[in-house]
Amino acid sequence: MRLEDSKLLATVAELGVEHRPAIPMSEHTSLGIGGTTDLLLINEHESIPGLLALLDDNRAQHKFLGGGSNLLVGDGELPWIVLQLAKPEPEIAVHGNFARVDAAADLGRTVTYCAKHDLGGMEGLIGVPGTVGGALRMNAGAYGMQIGSYVREVKLYRAAARKIEILSGDQISFEYRHTSFAPDDMMLAVTLELPSKSYQEIIQGIRICNEKRRASQPLGQKSAGCIFKNPPGASAGRMIDELGLKGFNVGDARISDRHANFFVNAGKASAKDMLSLIAEVRERVEKIYGAKLENEVVVWNA
Ligand code: EPU
Repeated sequence: MRLEDSKLLATVAELGVEHRPAIPMSEHTSLGIGGTTDLLLINEHESIPGLLALLDDNRAQHKFLGGGSNLLVGDGELPWIVLQLAKPEPEIAVHGNFARVDAAADLGRTVTYCAKHDLGGMEGLIGVPGTVGGALRMNAGAYGMQIGSYVREVKLYRAAARKIEILSGDQISFEYRHTSFAPDDMMLAVTLELPSKSYQEIIQGIRICNEKRRASQPLGQKSAGCIFKNPPGASAGRMIDELGLKGFNVGDARISDRHANFFVNAGKASAKDMLSLIAEVRERVEKIYGAKLENEVVVWNA
């Protein structure tokens, strides 16, 4: 979607929001898939209510983009624009056992920054690509931990109330790859309370997680991490593997040879290819195992 109205664009600029026209979303997603649209880069959280009111008045549909690492975006000209937070300086501030982190901060960088301040707990998330905001929204986790356990406060834009609010950790429910945030809430910042640990101990934990990840996941390839959530008590990857589907493809959308719940873009995969592959695998797993696999990847259809 192109924003062309000069009055609208002038107000966007007055709000300190940068307009980047005709951005290929394939360059903003770890899958390397996605069509074209305009992107608005937000420098100040406080401009968001005004910006969204302006977009509503102009009937411009929008989506919030984090790091694009758990996202499958449709092909072609997209019917909505994309909003993204710019990275502020500093992204992270540590006080005692609390780390206040901007939602735009890189997750891996946050883990290592906290480690340097002798704050641990998040070692499992070290190889997970994306932003802290994205991890928070989906309650990202790995190797027995999830980010929600450490959340004490969240600053967010509440779309329903049309304003910025602060929630305490106990007002939010964090479940397996799921939170109580509304789909149109926008994560702005989070305060984490992390256990004290020595830097050496944290680095040792990070090394172990990195080794496990390298041994079982296709890290060098374009993917969105696991495509499906694990059904209770089962592993989607194991089921897909047992069906002999490693290497199975639709066009350039391919099931990884290394981990069957990772679907990779092996060249020029389209969203259509990837969605067909997802649908085919879901159908086969349901037929044989009776399990209905739920997407972990977020799909923004064109
Ligand atoms: N397995 C296979 N074949 C495969 C993949 C897995 O047989 O192709 C077997 C493994 O050998 C193991 C079992 O299935 O016995 C579980 O595999 P793994 O330890 O890789 O864990 P997972 O359940 O597939 C989950 C998360 C990952 C996270 C790892 C490590 C989900 C959907 N996946 O994977 O998270 O990194 O545990 O904690 O919850 C993600 O969310 O994107 C993600 C990658």
